[in-house]
Amino acid sequence: MSASSLPQHCPTPVELDDLELLLSGALAPLTGFNEPGSAVTLALPEALKDLDAVELVDPEGLPLAIASQGAVTPLSHPQFGPFRNLYLTPAQVRQQYAGRTFVPVTDALTVGQLEELADLGPLVLLALAGTGTPTLSPVGLIRATIAAAGLLPDAAVVVVPLAAHGDAVADHDLGVQVVGNYAQGDPVTGLTSVSDDDPLADYPEEIADIVDFDRPGPGQQGLVLFFTGLSGSGKSTLARALMDKVLEQGERTVTSLDGDVVRRNLSAGLTFSKADRETNIRRIGWVAAEIARHGGVAIVSPIAPFDETRQQVREMVEQAGGEFFLVHVATPLEECERRDRKGLYAKARRGEIPEFTGISSPYEEPTDAAVRVDTTGRSIEDALDDVLVALAKTGHLDLRETDREPLKVLFVCTANICRSAFMEVTARHLAGDRTDIEFSSAGTHGFKDHALDGEMAAVLAPAVEHDDFASRPVTRDLIDDADLVLTAESTHRTYLLEEHPQAFRKVFTLGQFAEVAGGSDLHGRDLIESLGRQRGAARPEHDIADPYRRGPQASAEAGQRITALLETVIPALTGETR
Ligand code: ADX
Repeated sequence: MSASSLPQHCPTPVELDDLELLLSGALAPLTGFNEPGSAVTLALPEALKDLDAVELVDPEGLPLAIASQGAVTPLSHPQFGPFRNLYLTPAQVRQQYAGRTFVPVTDALTVGQLEELADLGPLVLLALAGTGTPTLSPVGLIRATIAAAGLLPDAAVVVVPLAAHGDAVADHDLGVQVVGNYAQGDPVTGLTSVSDDDPLADYPEEIADIVDFDRPGPGQQGLVLFFTGLSGSGKSTLARALMDKVLEQGERTVTSLDGDVVRRNLSAGLTFSKADRETNIRRIGWVAAEIARHGGVAIVSPIAPFDETRQQVREMVEQAGGEFFLVHVATPLEECERRDRKGLYAKARRGEIPEFTGISSPYEEPTDAAVRVDTTGRSIEDALDDVLVALAKTGHLDLRETDREPLKVLFVCTANICRSAFMEVTARHLAGDRTDIEFSSAGTHGFKDHALDGEMAAVLAPAVEHDDFASRPVTRDLIDDADLVLTAESTHRTYLLEEHPQAFRKVFTLGQFAEVAGGSDLHGRDLIESLGRQRGAARPEHDIADPYRRGPQASAEAGQRITALLETVIPALTGETR
C-alpha cells in the first residue's frame, strides 16, 4: 500500500491492494461511509487499469462502488451479512457512543484482558473484522466480541470492516487511522497480551466455546484428501480403500468425488481439453470446499494434471476453513500403460483418444504433495499405509490400526538425565507389563547416551530398572511420533511449541496434565484429545524444578513429586483403576 500517487486533496488516502478485499467488505471508512470526505482508493489489477470506470459488485451482482479516474465512490452498503446492524459509521458511533473509551479488538478476549477492561467505565469494543485476520473468521471475531461485552459491566460492540492486506506495518497504520476516526478524541485503549502459558491468557468458557466452533481442532476440521496422478496410477483404488477406513472408523462423515464418477454427473458433457479439465477440477474443488466448510471429509481422485488448478482448489478449501491434503500417486507412466485396465492407453497410442494425459496431454507433477506414493509392485494396504502415516502426522485424521499401536508418551526436560529420564523409567515401572503404552524421553538440550543422573537414580524405588537408559536430544520425528508429550516445566513446553507448533494439542507439562487428567472419565487418545481441546494453561506451580547439582534433598523432592504425578497420569491414560 502506498500513498505517493494519490491526489493531494485526499487527507487520509488509502490504496487497497486487490479487488477481492474490497468486495469482501474491506471498504474501511477512513472518514465515513457515504459521508463527505470519504477517501478510499483502489489498486486495480493490471488488466482493468485502462478502463474508464470499473463497477465493483457483490457476489450477487449488486453494485457496491465505482472506481473511476483514481477514486472509488461508494454506491451502497452491503445489505446482508451476519451482524450487519453492528456495522456503524463513525458518525453513527459519535451519535450513540461519544464519550466512551474505545478498544480495538482483533482477537477473542482473554480472562486477563477482560479484567483490565472491567474498570475502565463505559466502553466501545471496536471489532476490526475483515478477511485475513489471523486467528478468527470475521463472524467468529464478532461473536467472541459480543460474548466479551456480555462479561463486562458496560460495553457496546461496533464492527468495523478492516481487512488485513498482508503488510503488518501498513495494516497497523491503517488500523490506527480508522480507529481514530471512530474515537474522534475519546480515549483509545490497546489490549495487552500475555504469554500463552499464563492462566490470564485463557478464554472464559463462553468465549472458548465460540473460538472452538470457529476454529475447530484438527480432529474436527474439514478435510479434503486430494489424490492426483495419471489414469491407471491407482488413485481411485487408494481413495476407495481410504474411504472404507474412514467409514470403518466411523468418526467422520465422508464424501467421495472420484474422477470417472464426477465426469458422469457433476461434470457430464465436459471434454478433456485444458479448459474443460480446469472447469472439472474447479467444480470438484468447489464442492469439496463446501464439504470442508461443514467439517466433513471429501476424498477426491481426479487426474488433475495442472498445478495451477490444484492450487486453486487448495485455496478454495483453505478459505472455507478446511485442510487440504495432497497425495501424489506417482506410479510411472510405463507402469500405468502396462496395466491399461481400461484399454485407454492403447487407444490413445493409436490416436483414437485425443489429448490423453501422459501421451498427448501433459501431467504437471506436484511439488507440494503431503505424500508421494508409487504403487508399482505394492499391495493396496502397503501403499495406503504411506498415506495413513502422513495423514496421521498432520493430526487431522488417524486411521492407523490404533488397537495395535501402543500409546506413545514422550517425556521432555532439558538434558534428559534427571527429570525426564526419571519419568521414563518410573512410568515404565508403574505400567508394568502393559503393551498398550510406551514411554520414552528426550531433552531440549539433551546429549546422546548419558546415563540417569546418580542422585536421581539413588531416589528411584529399588525395583525400578534404569541400566538401559540412554539420554538423547528431542527431534521433530520424536514429537511427531508421540501421542502425548509431557514436559517437566512450562519453559520446555514453550520451547517445543515454538519449534513444533503443529504439536500444540498434545504437549503439556506433567503437572498440568495430571491436574486435569485425574478428574476425567476419558482414557488414552480420547483423553489426550479432549484435554488438548481445552487449551488449559501450564501454571508455574505445575513445574518440577531442576534438581541437577542441587543435592540429594532436591533430587528426593523431584523424585517424589514425579512419582506422585505419574501415579495419577498412568492410570488415567490406560484406564486401569488402581
Ligand atoms: S481430469 O484431467 O479432468 O482431472 P478426470 O480425472 O476427470 O480427468 O478423468 C480421467 C478419466 O477419464 C481417466 O481415468 C480415463 O478413464 C478417462 N479419460 C477419457 N479420456 C481421457 C483423456 N483424454 N485423458 C485422460 N483421461 C481420459
